[in-house]
Amino acid sequence: MKKILEINDLKMIAKKNLPKMFYDYVDSGSYTESTYRDNENDFNKIKIRQRVGRDISSSKLEKTILGKKYKLPFGFSPCGMGGMLYPDGEILVAKACEENNIPYILSTMSICSIEQVAKETNNPFWFQLYVMKDKNFVENIIIRASDAKCYALVLTLDLPILAQRHKDIRNELSAPPRLTLNNILQIIQKPKWCFKMLSTSNRSFGNILGHVKGVDDLSSIVKWTDGQFDAGLSWDYVKWIRRLWKGPLILKGILDEGDVKIANNLDIQGIIISNHGGRQLDGTLSSIMALKNLKNKVNSNIEIFFDGGVRSGKDIVKALSLGAKGIFMGRPYLYGLGAFGQKGVEKVIEILIKELNTTLLLAGETDVNNLDQDNLY
Ligand SMILES: Cc1cc2nc3c(=O)[nH]c(=O)nc-3n(C[C@H](O)[C@H](O)[C@H](O)COP(=O)(O)O)c2cc1C
Repeated sequence: MKKILEINDLKMIAKKNLPKMFYDYVDSGSYTESTYRDNENDFNKIKIRQRVGRDISSSKLEKTILGKKYKLPFGFSPCGMGGMLYPDGEILVAKACEENNIPYILSTMSICSIEQVAKETNNPFWFQLYVMKDKNFVENIIIRASDAKCYALVLTLDLPILAQRHKDIRNELSAPPRLTLNNILQIIQKPKWCFKMLSTSNRSFGNILGHVKGVDDLSSIVKWTDGQFDAGLSWDYVKWIRRLWKGPLILKGILDEGDVKIANNLDIQGIIISNHGGRQLDGTLSSIMALKNLKNKVNSNIEIFFDGGVRSGKDIVKALSLGAKGIFMGRPYLYGLGAFGQKGVEKVIEILIKELNTTLLLAGETDVNNLDQDNLY
């Protein structure tokens, strides 16, 4: 892996390796993709103070998150279909996170199931749940997450309906791919990917397949999932989930002060300030601008987490300085996974550690826990 210096290098390799439909699935936002772009670009509006003449001969990157000590102040966001980028993708990501002692949030829409990931790892991962209409499925998957010793439950609130990603529709995306002419043409151009994917039988949504009556093949899974996102979502749903899940509960997809006010009065332990990586409400605020607005509005008993647009260690320093306790990322680790599997994810972590450490020290700080607004202009 020579000359892989930044996340973008892994992105380019993933683009070369993956069938177009799976690369585009990752590198896309909804509609005009304006929020997707703003998430990355708005980081440039925030400037770090350069302080000199300080003793920076050591540094501390550890962070205590939800009462648990992690080696680094960042982790990986829940992303569907990781297992289509590389065989058994989610297991590999969980292993890389375990080795580096950072949090990994497994998605409801993962290819490998909760049980498969739990079997291959020892460090408890977190589990992300979509708000779904099928209450039996939800009750059951919460029990499964608890049995698998998941540490925290992350409830995603910004997907009560699905926004459109033009690329996915044009590419006829599904997992596993439907055998249309368009798909066959995309797949045969990537024989190495095809060959690798033959090594696993995990090629569909492992958390769902076999766990819902009558859902046992691709067409029934697509039909069931499409009908599941709950447009009738209300805050009562959160209270219902609270009663079912005994561990730390985190709400993902909070962007607005009005929702923070409501969340402040709930029995939750954290929020993730997020716009789903620009994949839902196109035209809304970038995540980093939302963090700026909200940092002083969240009750002190609720931990603030953040995702959206983080592509480097300097972005991590900025988001920590703005008050986030833990920084999460989606696409960076998916690019690593698509490029080289587990080794690629490990490379992402290695790059981020180096960038984070250098940025921290050149800002005149030695401990990520000391970063605050004072470190920014
Ligand atoms: C390919 C892809 C799939 C995603 N799937 C999910 C998901 O299943 N559940 C969820 O809550 N968020 C999902 N997200 C959103 C991420 O959890 C996260 O909010 C977003 O990726 C952060 O932005 P970033 O990719 O710029 O870091 C997905 C994002 C991507 C890129």
